[in-house]
Amino acid sequence: MCGIVGILGNEAVAGPLVEALRRLEYRGYDSAGIATVENGSLDRRRAEGKLVKLENCLSEAPLVGHTGIGHTRWATHGAPNEINAHPHVSGDVSVVHNGIIENFRELREDLEKSGMEFSTQTDTEVIAHLIARTLKGGATPEEAVEQSLSKLEGAFALAIIFAGHDDLMIAARKGSPLAIGYGDGEMYVGSDAIALAPFTDTITYLDDGDWAVLKRDGAVIRDRAGRQVERAKVKSVASALMVDKGNHRHFMAKEIHEQPEVLSHTLAHYLDFSEGRVDRSRFDLDLGAIERITISACGTAYYAGLVGKYWLERWARIPVEIDIASEMRYREAPMEKGGMALFVSQSGETADTLATLRYCKEEGQHIASIVNVRESSIARESASVLPTLAGPEIGVASTKAFTCQLAVIACLAIAIGRARGHISEETENELVMALAKVPGHISTILRDESIFEKISHDLSHARDVLYLGRGVSYPIALEGALKLKEISYIHAEGYAAGELKHGPIALIDEDVPIIVVAPDDDLFEKTLSNIQEVVARGGRVTVLTDHDPDRIGADAENIISLPTVHPFATPLVYAVPVQLLAYHTAVFMGTDVDQPRNLAKSVTVE
Ligand code: G6P
Repeated sequence: MCGIVGILGNEAVAGPLVEALRRLEYRGYDSAGIATVENGSLDRRRAEGKLVKLENCLSEAPLVGHTGIGHTRWATHGAPNEINAHPHVSGDVSVVHNGIIENFRELREDLEKSGMEFSTQTDTEVIAHLIARTLKGGATPEEAVEQSLSKLEGAFALAIIFAGHDDLMIAARKGSPLAIGYGDGEMYVGSDAIALAPFTDTITYLDDGDWAVLKRDGAVIRDRAGRQVERAKVKSVASALMVDKGNHRHFMAKEIHEQPEVLSHTLAHYLDFSEGRVDRSRFDLDLGAIERITISACGTAYYAGLVGKYWLERWARIPVEIDIASEMRYREAPMEKGGMALFVSQSGETADTLATLRYCKEEGQHIASIVNVRESSIARESASVLPTLAGPEIGVASTKAFTCQLAVIACLAIAIGRARGHISEETENELVMALAKVPGHISTILRDESIFEKISHDLSHARDVLYLGRGVSYPIALEGALKLKEISYIHAEGYAAGELKHGPIALIDEDVPIIVVAPDDDLFEKTLSNIQEVVARGGRVTVLTDHDPDRIGADAENIISLPTVHPFATPLVYAVPVQLLAYHTAVFMGTDVDQPRNLAKSVTVE
């Protein structure tokens, strides 16, 4: 999703702006640009495609201004080309924007009537024109921005600079995230603290509706009502975070391999291994008082929630409803008081998830979230925050964040089950020990990837791939299919194995590889019957299992034998083979594994 940076510096800012944009690349983008104030006037460079193209433009025609803004654009309105790339300029105003201006058509008509000429198809250009028109009418930059903001509907994070004003930048946020960074006689603006980490670790997160006037010596922040407000300065840990690939070819590979370690950290946060117990104090929740749970999330995080539904219902005996956030936010579902609404999000900034959170808050639910970015909007708006300790995830396709989300939900299910009296001390001990073994099982799988490479080579020639699973393995089948299509662009679908005969079985022939997630749990025999139904129709099956391979026999083309796992913990372990299949297939296909086309890491628009 679009990334924003801004610097009021003491030297040329073009280089540092590009450096900050590079740290926002993980969000996904298709063009980039920067603008600076140079000898009182605005100048900009923009390029379609990756940052290296922008750097080439800058080396041919450098920008030397000490005040500047930069942007990576993930196209919403208008094609991803140079003309539509930000920053946008109108008269003395240049602006970068993340979000969507919903009333841009009305605003555009009005601006065109007053003679403003549009050169792009973007919604953002209306912001530049609105401010420029108000400036021409005699307003100061601050007045022009304040008046213009009041006309904008939708979501935005903005950074704005002005010709003739070398010591001024205005930032604003509504919906989309934005942080201000404090340097030594320099000031910064960024979509997140990771972008600003090379320059400062002193950060203020703007609240929704805030806007700020920045000069080199500090910032004056106002809330949506125009009142001057103080917002806390926090020390960000982002600067300490390593954002490199280590010895791996891609961030995704690095993040897959980090799973044993980050899962150990996450599990150790919630579990007392020596006692074989869940550390209930970690949950900041009245565990025994929760009567029902509504889970909402998007993408991979939604699949983590779906596994959570199985776990919470079966082990904690608590009713769980789940919906994808983009649906739930508009469904107007009535919610009984006394419920907990649980949101799962790596970034903590996903617009649909945040909107659903606010809806559930209005419906009187206790708001809890499982997030990887503790300073994020979703975390800040939650009454209870359950962190995943996955570290920054840079690959757009989520891997380690997903398994850490699963780890937290598994611990929560045990904690609630125990508090409600449905899990005995002995069972708690058994389940905790099952989770404790997960990092070791994953290390074993990661020791030798040759079988995954071999099967992926085959998958890379397929046009369609089916993933099947039952019970807790059904969401893993969905996640496997999502991973594959995200990064290899091969069409893939996940199905509940029992649903096969109600439609998908019609797709089966020797050209459609089928991946079956079949741990040796109480549903294994049922899944085995489905495998036989597929094989009987000429289907080519790869089975992921810890069951005796002889029992599956010659029915399957490939059997990937996995370590023996307690049935409770299988989703955490089986997530890894489906990640590896997607990863190696994408490598064979030669796609952009870490930044797949059209996708964004942090989806801050609807
Ligand atoms: C995007 C990402 C996915 C992610 C989803 C939800 O689509 O590409 O990997 O699962 O957003 O993001 P969140 O940050 O809320 O987990």
